Amino acid sequence: MSFYEDRIFPFFMELATRTFRREIADLLQTADGRVLEIGAGTGANLSYYSDRVTEVVAIEPVAAMLEKARTALRHAPHDIPVSLQVADARKLPFADASFDSVVACLVFCTIPDPEQAVAEMYRVLKPGGKLIFYEHVASSRPGVRVWQHRINPVWRKLACGCEINRDTRTLFEQAGFHYRQIKDFEHPKVPSLMAPIIAGVALR
Ligand SMILES: C[S@@+](CC[C@H](N)C(=O)[O-])C[C@H]1O[C@@H](n2cnc3c(N)ncnc32)[C@H](O)[C@@H]1O
Repeated sequence: MSFYEDRIFPFFMELATRTFRREIADLLQTADGRVLEIGAGTGANLSYYSDRVTEVVAIEPVAAMLEKARTALRHAPHDIPVSLQVADARKLPFADASFDSVVACLVFCTIPDPEQAVAEMYRVLKPGGKLIFYEHVASSRPGVRVWQHRINPVWRKLACGCEINRDTRTLFEQAGFHYRQIKDFEHPKVPSLMAPIIAGVALR
């Protein structure tokens, strides 16, 4: 990992995603039981879990981000056991059907082989378990989508692999998830290329 990826990008990532936190905090109230958070980054979501959660396992491939997450955790307003592990969502080091909820927030834009990661999430969730997601995605408006495709190669380089033109809604469906609740909307407070959001809960 480079100095940019370890030190500079995490700072801008926290700043750029601050707008989404209130909504993510509300959504995470649906998490329960044993929770796996993938791509936890600097731990921005770790303080949001309710007392219906018995344990959180947070994985993240960038060790420098997890160090920040460890610091963030000290100020968490709960005493839920949280373990932080360096791991890749494409090869989860966990047993089949071992989690009640899996959380993916602003991460499916970045994982290099999203199909592999979603299959892994499906594998580790118990039958009936919840995938809780908040993701920015490709626009359904052709005029915006064209620009997302044009800007994507540059954006991907600047934002450490983040892509702005992924169809994550279809990805989850094709992996076998069934949507229990989904909000598919344009966020009014972010630039239009990043504004299309899907947020909700899908069941395994
Ligand atoms: C935009 S950040 C979001 C971080 C965090 N979920 C949040 O809400 O602030 C995307 C995260 O996905 C992580 N990521 C990238 N590739 C990954 C992979 N293969 N498996 C798990 N996480 C990955 C990145 O390291 C980064 O922390």
